[in-house]
Amino acid sequence: KTRTFIMVKPDGVHRGLVGDIVRRFEHRGFRLVEAKIMRVDRALAERHYSQHVGKPFFDELADYITSGSVFAMILEGDNAVAIARSMIGATNPAVATSGTIRGDYATSVEFNVIHGSDSPESVEREIGLFFGTQD
Ligand code: GTP
Ligand code: MG
Repeated sequence: KTRTFIMVKPDGVHRGLVGDIVRRFEHRGFRLVEAKIMRVDRALAERHYSQHVGKPFFDELADYITSGSVFAMILEGDNAVAIARSMIGATNPAVATSGTIRGDYATSVEFNVIHGSDSPESVEREIGLFFGTQD
């Protein structure tokens, strides 16, 4: 089993989607290892999305991710990164399939409800940023 890092973004928390999203992952077979509600400040936004700093949409992205509470969690399961990403769906909700989280709940690439780590390296880096280095 492996771990992944998932964050329900401010629009998802504000809309009351945390319970449904946790339920989806639990029912798929993931185990919730750690979770917390928190705010992301500008410094954390720049570290978490370091690969996007300087892109034209970065300011919008940083404003959005710092605009309200997020729900951060560590999940454990088989093939955690790939299965969680497939449950989340495409970045652009216009092409996210129905049945995925973004396909069911999002209509804009700017407000797309949820983040999931995209590689084992991202998992370790992001867990370190949000929960402190583990083990
Ligand atoms: P995350 O799980 O949030 O990392 O999304 P992702 O891995 O599916 O996409 P990516 O890492 O490429 O982009 C990170 C986030 O930046 C996306 O989820 C969007 O919220 C935002 N984003 C990406 N492209 C655009 C864009 O063109 N415009 C705006 N406003 N936001 C964008
Ligand atoms: Mg990403």
